[in-house]
Amino acid sequence: MGGISSEREISLKSGAGVFESLDREKYEPIKVVIDEKTDIITKIPDDVDFAFLALHGKFGEDGCVQSVLETRDIPYSGCGPLSSAMCMDKNISKKICKASGIPTADWITVKSIEEIDYDRIEEMGYPVFVKPNSGGSSVATFMIKEKAGIEDAVRQGLEVDTEVMIEQYLPGEECTSFILDGEVFPTVSIKSEQEFFDFEAKYSSDNGAVEEVVYLEESLQNKLNGYSRMCWDAFNCRAYVRVDFIISNGVPYVLELNTLPGLTATSLIPRSAAARGISYSQLLDKLISCSLK
Ligand SMILES: Nc1ncnc2c1ncn2[C@@H]1O[C@H](COP(=O)(O)OP(=O)(O)O)[C@@H](O)[C@H]1O
Ligand SMILES: [Mg+2]
Repeated sequence: MGGISSEREISLKSGAGVFESLDREKYEPIKVVIDEKTDIITKIPDDVDFAFLALHGKFGEDGCVQSVLETRDIPYSGCGPLSSAMCMDKNISKKICKASGIPTADWITVKSIEEIDYDRIEEMGYPVFVKPNSGGSSVATFMIKEKAGIEDAVRQGLEVDTEVMIEQYLPGEECTSFILDGEVFPTVSIKSEQEFFDFEAKYSSDNGAVEEVVYLEESLQNKLNGYSRMCWDAFNCRAYVRVDFIISNGVPYVLELNTLPGLTATSLIPRSAAARGISYSQLLDKLISCSLK
């Protein structure tokens, strides 16, 4: 838990939730707070049976920590290094979705201001979303309504990442699909008062988003579940993953995949599991057993 990404604070909350609720009849958990990269080597004892990863974002969710644990022969929760790395990179994820026939909004990426192709953006049409390619928690994410705003948004994105995505705006309903061991769980819809699901909407208590399990109209639900499962296969996931969608004009478009999504008792995944009668503590148990398969 913890870690060095912009999502450290959320990770500390996920970690605290997991630590508190792990079944003490089965496990003897110890808390490991990661403050710097080398802590993955120095703070985790050699003889642990399992590392439950409550990290989010860079150096946590991106395959690096997973690779170190593979090297140390310590089993850990969630996806392996390659799936983790692919899902962290939005550009790569979208390329894989596109090649697999999974809908995703049109996009380009740039590594410098000079690379911005205004004609391509015009083709997509305004507004567009400008966001860091490997971001998280909506950091430096902007909805840009006209050409004049692009450069500044890209510049801010390049301050936190080496690559910035410019993506077609999808009007519609945001929702998320939890997949456990290849099985698609109930969809959770996310409704925010804000213009989009930004950091404040995600994590503040007063301006929080409304997150609830939804059962969509049958053919739409089938499409969404089908694309979720296609993602599971295409990215060669293990144990669990959360796929975020925007449903626009009846089509579920993949927004991004999260291999280590938020894991407090009130996070999206536990809500989805609860709709199947699985408690938070039971869910943690399943995440561990599926990771050890
Ligand atoms: N193309 C888009 N169309 C509409 N809303 C978007 C788009 N891209 C991002 N958003 C909004 O911004 C939020 C953050 O973007 P996302 O791609 O999920 O990045 P992050 O990794 O920061 O969560 C989303 O939850 C959504 O509300
Ligand atoms: Mg997101």
